[in-house]
Amino acid sequence: MNKYIYHCLCHKKSVIFKMHLKYMFKGDLHMSLSNETIKTIKSTAPILEVHGATITTVFYKNMFINHPELLNMFNEVNQKQGKQQQALANLVYAAAKNIDQLETVLDEVKLVANKHRGLGVKPEHYPIVGKYLLLAIKEVLGDAATDDIMNAWEEAYGLIAQVFIDIEIDMYKEAEEQIGGWDGFKDFIVVDKVEESDIITSFYLKAKDGKVLADYATGQYLTVRATIPNEEYMQIRHYTISAAPGTDTYRISVKKETDCTPYGKVSTYLHDLVNVGDTIEASAPSGTFVLEDNNRPVTLISGGVGITPMLSMLETLAAKQSNQKINFVHAARNESVHAFHHHVNDLISTLPNAEYMYGYSDLNSLNHGDFKGYLTKETLEQAVKENAICYIVGPVPFMKHVANLLSELGLSDEDIRYELFGPAQDILEEVTA
Ligand SMILES: Cc1cc2nc3c(=O)[nH]c(=O)nc-3n(C[C@H](O)[C@H](O)[C@H](O)COP(=O)(O)OP(=O)(O)OC[C@H]3O[C@@H](n4cnc5c(N)ncnc54)[C@H](O)[C@@H]3O)c2cc1C
Ligand code: HEM
Repeated sequence: MNKYIYHCLCHKKSVIFKMHLKYMFKGDLHMSLSNETIKTIKSTAPILEVHGATITTVFYKNMFINHPELLNMFNEVNQKQGKQQQALANLVYAAAKNIDQLETVLDEVKLVANKHRGLGVKPEHYPIVGKYLLLAIKEVLGDAATDDIMNAWEEAYGLIAQVFIDIEIDMYKEAEEQIGGWDGFKDFIVVDKVEESDIITSFYLKAKDGKVLADYATGQYLTVRATIPNEEYMQIRHYTISAAPGTDTYRISVKKETDCTPYGKVSTYLHDLVNVGDTIEASAPSGTFVLEDNNRPVTLISGGVGITPMLSMLETLAAKQSNQKINFVHAARNESVHAFHHHVNDLISTLPNAEYMYGYSDLNSLNHGDFKGYLTKETLEQAVKENAICYIVGPVPFMKHVANLLSELGLSDEDIRYELFGPAQDILEEVTA
């Protein structure tokens, strides 16, 4: 289970929020399902799981035909690559298998609820998803999906959806009612645009309405909605706020996705068409991958643009002159795409117990930094101090590799925290399987 992600929320309000959820899960909610329904769901969940991605693919296809307006919210590339279907299927079946103890999937639900809140998923959307999900189950299973099974799944979906809805209602309220908070998307003016490397550019944002900015926890992201010329639908993407809280701007740092064709839509749009003085829309900061507020050693490990949350964390530690043991490890392809190198060096030099290591995977690089090629166990051994919490963000193969090495070094899942810059998948379960 994804235990490692969530012990991070350090605010008092989050503790109260967790208590509320526990109460909710242990309270009346699952009692509303009959024993018969629970039995049916638990016995059919593994069968549906086998067809998981097929069912969700059929579900999305039919839902978008009937509700094309929802394409303003979903990322079509995640759909085409099947990542979104798989993430949804995994969670639905994990919830179904634990329908009488939903608190065991609380961490996953919270991760998704944060994304949903950023995207603008509302209670009225749930019956739409429910309708097309149930129709897809029926379509894929055919006669095997008896009325009893379908009724049980309708009830179970209603229960799972209600859990999301309740959590998200609280999140919307919190996002709007905090100082500087707002509901949905609002306009921001780009007040500065800075090239950080050949492929990463930062955008500094100020609220167009002139209001103070809502605070955020170090590591959280902004959800940006772009209306791109000649695109039929609006495009929504998440971008980590790459600076420490407490300034009068939000900074996001975006990698231009040009490795495959077609190029990434939003990143290319931001790089090529959005300049100082232009407006972009964003919803209030969100996310569960945040720096834990304690005195334990910290190792911040990033690959490529995964540096963004790590930089926010390092800036935060530097701002409070932390005497924690801090190790900042960064892997890039080569010098020209390596962003924030001097800035990281400067921050490290202001901290009493901080070390910085970087390396380039491109073996042709003349300068290869502190390690050549991929990160090795030996390199990580130096960077991970006793009792350290490790934060990892980067491309999925990089994260799997690093998580694997950290497990070999004896770190528990709890002490390996990571965030994916795409739909959820469990890199730890995969590496240790
Ligand atoms: C929590 C979170 C935080 C994030 N933080 C950051 C951050 O700080 N900085 C950052 O740069 N990014 C960040 N991201 C990633 C970001 O949200 C976008 O996913 C990224 O910018 C790519 O979006 P895009 O619109 O440019 O590319 P998309 O259009 O979504 O394309 C994605 C990739 O798929 C390829 N592609 C396009 N069409 C197809 C197709 N038909 N078949 C196969 N492949 C295709 C594209 O070439 C591209 O490489 C974050 C993501 C998450 C979830
Ligand atoms: C109980 C019902 C639901 C479940 C279990 C569920 C689950 C998920 C999961 C697992 C993800 C992937 C999160 C990630 O990026 O890591 C996701 C993303 C998303 N969900 Fe839901 N969801 C539900 C309902 C809804 C509803 C009602 C809507 C709105 C119509 C919605 C819209 C989205 C969108 C837009 C994304 C982002 C997809 C993308 O990458 O483009 N979801 N959801």
